[in-house]
Amino acid sequence: MFILSSSDTVPLYKQLYNQIRDLILSGKLPADSKLPSVRHLANELSASCNTVDGAYQELYAEGYIYSRPRSGYFVSALDQEMAPHATTSAKLGRNDFLPPPPARFAYNFHPARLDQESFPAALWRKCLIEGLRGNSKELSHYGDLQGDWRLRCSIQSYLEKSRGVMCDPEQIVVSSGLHQGLEIVAQLLKDDHSVVGVEDPGYHLPRAVFENHAYTIRPVPVGQSGIELNQLKAGDATIVYVTPSHQLPLGYVMPVANRLALLEWAESGGNFIIEDDYDSELRYQGNPIPSLQGIRPTGNIIYSGTFSKILSPALRLSYLVLPYSLLGAYRQRYGSYNCSVSLVEQRAMACFMEQGHWERHIRRMRTVYKKKHDILLRCVEASFGKRAVVIGQGAGLHVVIRLHVTPLSEAEIIAKGRQKGIGLVRFSDFHATGNCENVTLMLGFGGLTGNEIEQGITLLSQIC
Ligand SMILES: Cc1ncc(COP(=O)(O)O)c(C=O)c1O
Repeated sequence: MFILSSSDTVPLYKQLYNQIRDLILSGKLPADSKLPSVRHLANELSASCNTVDGAYQELYAEGYIYSRPRSGYFVSALDQEMAPHATTSAKLGRNDFLPPPPARFAYNFHPARLDQESFPAALWRKCLIEGLRGNSKELSHYGDLQGDWRLRCSIQSYLEKSRGVMCDPEQIVVSSGLHQGLEIVAQLLKDDHSVVGVEDPGYHLPRAVFENHAYTIRPVPVGQSGIELNQLKAGDATIVYVTPSHQLPLGYVMPVANRLALLEWAESGGNFIIEDDYDSELRYQGNPIPSLQGIRPTGNIIYSGTFSKILSPALRLSYLVLPYSLLGAYRQRYGSYNCSVSLVEQRAMACFMEQGHWERHIRRMRTVYKKKHDILLRCVEASFGKRAVVIGQGAGLHVVIRLHVTPLSEAEIIAKGRQKGIGLVRFSDFHATGNCENVTLMLGFGGLTGNEIEQGITLLSQIC
């Protein structure tokens, strides 16, 4: 009997194909034995005829079975000695090194998920085609090493207008995500720097990248005004990674007095600031907070931006703005490295920006996410009441709630949530020590519908 699982990531017809093929290869289905009719097997498996037919067609195309007119399908004669051994992934030992498929949750509160209906597929397709049509000859050679010039010009004018970043396109490096941008920064600075200050709690990725480059990591506590400057100044870090316009994960905004003090720290000590401006387009009250880089465009600030929060994290499209002081070193070290993002995607993005779709899309997404954000806050208030304190609302794709009276630990809440179909990330992973004193939950709302947010929060409140 065959077992098909609809929660498996392998399509049903392929699961059936694999199981029949393994029986044939192992000799358990001998040559010339007749396979059940498509309709009969579909009935038996409660599957569709298409599923069974798809499996049979593939087995037939590969010669595992043959057909007799008006009689059906039969197993082909194979030389068992010569036949390839049935190769399930378990036999290959693959399970030892393949990560498990991502769990599917009915209510996935992961903070990096975007609205599932909002990718502008038709416009993107149009921009891909226009990018190809006008420039197909350019696909016969390598593109600009630092990133497509047209895209860099579009990014420059967007950053100036919307984020207050003042730069030239020649300072922009197109990269395929924050980690790749930070790899470049880690290489560029390692001759003169060895200690990096990071926000604590903060994003784990900068810690990982700089650790891989043998830097020492100094976690610096975060208060309501962002990273604690006194502690940064008291330490030995000469590079700091910050998210000043929307601190990840707590959502705080660094006030201008602290921004000026941070700039002063960089200037007076020859230190570097990495400003990660990952999602600051998404502010639901007031205007987006202008960047730190814009206050001191000639300072030692490496600005990092991404298209992952508004458009799609799957595109792997991001950028750095390097200060002029690092451009020489960049060209020396990376002068022969090719850009890691496909020119086709870069041209599509340039076209998307030039035609005004990007700014319209930002406005649209702000409305979509504000709605979800407001629903989430309403539901937390209704379901948790005084049991939860909300932190970091008003921006981005998540809020954080702190639970003061729950009898459960973070691990217990996550485990119970899983059983109810609720996906939660471990907030303690944002702490450099991996521990968090209070039970704190990060509630991403981007990938959920309004109804799912309501149901998920109600269920969650019953668990906690
Ligand atoms: C703080 C922060 N920066 C940047 C990013 C985006 O990174 P990428 O451009 O690699 O998708 C994320 C994604 O979740 C993030 O949380």
